[in-house]
Amino acid sequence: MAYETVLYEVNDRIGTVTINRPDKMNALNQQVLRDLSAAMEEAGRDDAVGVVVLTGAGEKAFAAGADIGELAELDPLGAIALARRGQALTRRMEQLGKPVLAAVNGFALGGGCELAMACTLRVAADTAKLGQPEVNLGIIPGYGGTQRLARLVGKGRALDIILTGRMVGAKEALGIGLVDRVAPAAELAAAVRELAGTLLQKGPAALRFSMEAVDGGLERGMAEALEWEAQLFGLVASTADMKEGLTAFLEKRKPAFGGK
Ligand code: COA
Repeated sequence: MAYETVLYEVNDRIGTVTINRPDKMNALNQQVLRDLSAAMEEAGRDDAVGVVVLTGAGEKAFAAGADIGELAELDPLGAIALARRGQALTRRMEQLGKPVLAAVNGFALGGGCELAMACTLRVAADTAKLGQPEVNLGIIPGYGGTQRLARLVGKGRALDIILTGRMVGAKEALGIGLVDRVAPAAELAAAVRELAGTLLQKGPAALRFSMEAVDGGLERGMAEALEWEAQLFGLVASTADMKEGLTAFLEKRKPAFGGK
């Protein structure tokens, strides 16, 4: 389907969603939120898509945050509704059931950083800059940033980044776990394709249950989290992918996973 502010294409089982407002640093206005939600749904539903990539159009920005012009018009109830919309989108991405890779091609600020953090893994260009600069505008992160940043990099580092509003370069982001890989800007797309290719060789059900085990476990205490893992381990044992993976190993051949 075609969208107003987002490009969506599928190649080699990779569904690429590109935020397409390069003249506005891919700022996330309400239309972008709607289009991103719809494109993520489409990618999630499409059996031909095994891995989703999220990136920004142009060379400067992944997304430079919520649209500041729209923020200026908000009243308190509108602000709560907007935060809930952004949170619903980021939560949906996290629970899409297939890996979503952020190709962070430039500024990922505010809502842009929050979108990247909701992705399963983040690959950044060495020129990328991430951050939560909301305090500079007298507001706070509202699309899950206060929660996901603390979970990704720890409370102290999250508060350092949020309270100073400073930009974090790719190298520092890699060191603190805010991004998972860094590539030279000109090689970012190839690095993301390579990572996607690796994931596409795995059993889709095993990827899905692995993501659910880690995410769901983080919301539980240790005893309950281990039981959650055991239950998912049991569910995996009901899949044809498990049978195929184990049989292929024993027969010394490559597995052909069907995702069932
Ligand atoms: N919302 C709306 N418009 C935005 C935007 C945002 N979050 N970020 C950038 N833009 C617009 C600018 O207003 C400008 O529009 P114009 O050409 O019509 O004047 C255009 O995008 C280019 O941005 P500009 O600031 O000129 O580019 P730059 O290279 O000098 O700086 C940034 C880039 C990202 C450092 C700067 O745009 C910035 O600080 N943006 C806001 C980041 C932010 O605070 N995000 C959190 C929002 S909660």
